Amino acid sequence: MADAQRRQVFYELARRLRENVARGSPDQAEDVLPVLAGEYAAPAQYQREVEQIFERVPLLVALTCDLPDAGDFVTHTIVGRPLLIVRGDDGVARVFVNACRHRGAALTDAPYGSRRLFTCPYHAWSYDRQGCLKGVPDGETFGDLSDISGLIELPSDELAGAVFASLDAGAAFTAREWLGDSLVRSLEALRLDAMYPYRVTSTIASPNWKLAADGYLDGYHIGLLHRNTIGVRAINNRNTYDLFGPHVRIGFAGKGIYQVDERPEEEWELGEVMSLVHYIFPNVSISGGHKDTIQLSRLLPGPGVGESTTVQHQYFYEPMTDAMLARAEEKRQVYEQVVRDEDCATIFTINEALPAVAREHFVFGRNEPGNQAFHRTIRALTEVKA
Ligand code: FES
Ligand SMILES: [Fe+2]
Repeated sequence: MADAQRRQVFYELARRLRENVARGSPDQAEDVLPVLAGEYAAPAQYQREVEQIFERVPLLVALTCDLPDAGDFVTHTIVGRPLLIVRGDDGVARVFVNACRHRGAALTDAPYGSRRLFTCPYHAWSYDRQGCLKGVPDGETFGDLSDISGLIELPSDELAGAVFASLDAGAAFTAREWLGDSLVRSLEALRLDAMYPYRVTSTIASPNWKLAADGYLDGYHIGLLHRNTIGVRAINNRNTYDLFGPHVRIGFAGKGIYQVDERPEEEWELGEVMSLVHYIFPNVSISGGHKDTIQLSRLLPGPGVGESTTVQHQYFYEPMTDAMLARAEEKRQVYEQVVRDEDCATIFTINEALPAVAREHFVFGRNEPGNQAFHRTIRALTEVKA
């Protein structure tokens, strides 16, 4: 995507945010949405979310820049499914179950790296970068192996700098269908393929995964809960919300918006005027991309209904020099602290209150259309048919 087109995506949002600030209102939903508090705490509902959402829909499992070259890989586990995502010699990113075809040992426990061959630590079966079985020690003593050609591969597709996979081996999807053209354009503006990952991540204990997701979809708390930290330059509750099917883009107005009036658009300091979150359903938030960094947060549900893990990744548009590493580490610590001590500390109190309020309804306001869309999507995907 050309730079001029990228700028258009961001400046259009900046103009809308400016209008919202002038009008004194965020983009709004038609009505408020009540959500039964017990839906966050019910093990049966959680089970449906795992089976009917996480084990079915395409999940954003890596960014293109996590594995730029052949042999590059990343691993992580989602709803108990260990994944190995590898770029093949043909340039295709493939998603495998990280389990050896002999007796299931993990091929690697490294979170990232680069390999020519993946050799199982247990009995040293080896697989190439396309997942094909290449070597079996003392194979002539083993017996018939004709049924095993390689690792279990999951359906996947790479687009707009991100790799998507479904945990359902029989699923058929395309990333373009899953995202839609408008969201693809918006993600392309972030140039996710042109970034450099900072390999140190933060892992934060969080309560029920939907409570964690609610925080990422919500423009109504940034200037309040985070008033002394990441929200210090934010104008609260004047957000833009764009709903792309189940996915949501949220624009946040920055206080720099007060200064732009006299200046031509090319001189607007985008970083001061706005911030930006793309929430890719069901569990990935991509924050930033309109200036020099992004932060990707992955919400990993489970093992129980009241538990999840939030993993935060930092990416930069410049290679990781020593100076960048120091900056990245500083940023990592800031975001880890904010999410742990502000967001998670708060939502843990909700989690604790759930048994006492299970029969009551929480209410998502007209000014919370992102959260509303999220809960409507979950409802539609986990509906119990009579
Ligand atoms: S489990 Fe991998 S070689 Fe035996
Ligand atoms: Fe927050």
